[in-house]
Amino acid sequence: MLKNCWYIACPSRKLKNRPVARTLFGRRLVFFRSESGQVSALDDSCPHRNAPLSAGEVADGQLACPYHGWRFDCQGRLVEIPYRAGTPPDCSVQQYDCVEQDGYVWVCPGDKVPEEAPLVFPHLGLPGWTSFRMETLFAANVEACLENFLDCPHATHVHRYWFRTPTAKPVMAQVTMLEDGAVAEYFQEPREKSLVWSLLSPGKAVGMKHTDRYIAPATSRVDYEFDDGRAYSITSSCTPQDEFQTRVFTVISFRRGWLGPLVRLFFHPLSRLIIQQDVRMLALQQENIRHRGKADFKALDQDVLYRPIMAWRKALRQGGTLPEAGDQWQVELKL
Ligand code: FES
Ligand SMILES: [Fe+2]
Repeated sequence: MLKNCWYIACPSRKLKNRPVARTLFGRRLVFFRSESGQVSALDDSCPHRNAPLSAGEVADGQLACPYHGWRFDCQGRLVEIPYRAGTPPDCSVQQYDCVEQDGYVWVCPGDKVPEEAPLVFPHLGLPGWTSFRMETLFAANVEACLENFLDCPHATHVHRYWFRTPTAKPVMAQVTMLEDGAVAEYFQEPREKSLVWSLLSPGKAVGMKHTDRYIAPATSRVDYEFDDGRAYSITSSCTPQDEFQTRVFTVISFRRGWLGPLVRLFFHPLSRLIIQQDVRMLALQQENIRHRGKADFKALDQDVLYRPIMAWRKALRQGGTLPEAGDQWQVELKL
């Protein structure tokens, strides 16, 4: 079931008049545009001698293989063999469903297209909001990425002084299982001096609401809303390349009115720096797991959204019953 979902292949603007190669669930796909601009996804292997079609070129909305020039249309049908007269034999390349939404090309790598449209990134294009996008390749699987993006305690170590300065103050998290995942809301959260808080938060006198959300199958969303109207929202959609690598597409949106473009000027490179700290940490963790042969984790309530993420993904992977919405519990931790 995990395959029968929408995943981001690439930003729409990356797909112009050349084919783009992407790997999903270990399978190589090629993306290109038809003459009308419609996006198409095919297996990245020519049926003739299995050359990668992504190394070929797009002409008149058709994809030409780089080896002997066989041409395929956007449904994957063979339409021409340049060195053979007449109608080509019946032959086609496996095609995958894809759509464009929110400036991304989405593909369903499975054989059953989901009924729902792909994830909508909140706040994109809303008045008063400014957004920027990031694409990051992690040497880690989807579960490790999702947990990392929704894990508060790691920030006091991996992002110490950048994003979170440890205070050891008690914090309460309330976790609620939802129809499409789970959410954790944090209470009495400290906002000690760190670079990001100093630059972006309005000071401790102003109230703040912080929620971390897991959206099945492969999205995380973090929201900070302040009583003075400022708000920050970080949504990351994970595309599994294979067991060991995940391509993460992040949209960061914030409500700062006319100051938005100015804030983006330093917020964007700062976010890149912080995400690179996670890239390095996850690469170390995964390398260690591979060396040991398998993951062997100690579960803790304070790994707040780890269990909901694993329960959802296990059910989706095995085609079992999905976790029920409504369950709620509280976790005490120190941040
Ligand atoms: S391998 Fe593609 S045309 Fe020969
Ligand atoms: Fe992080």
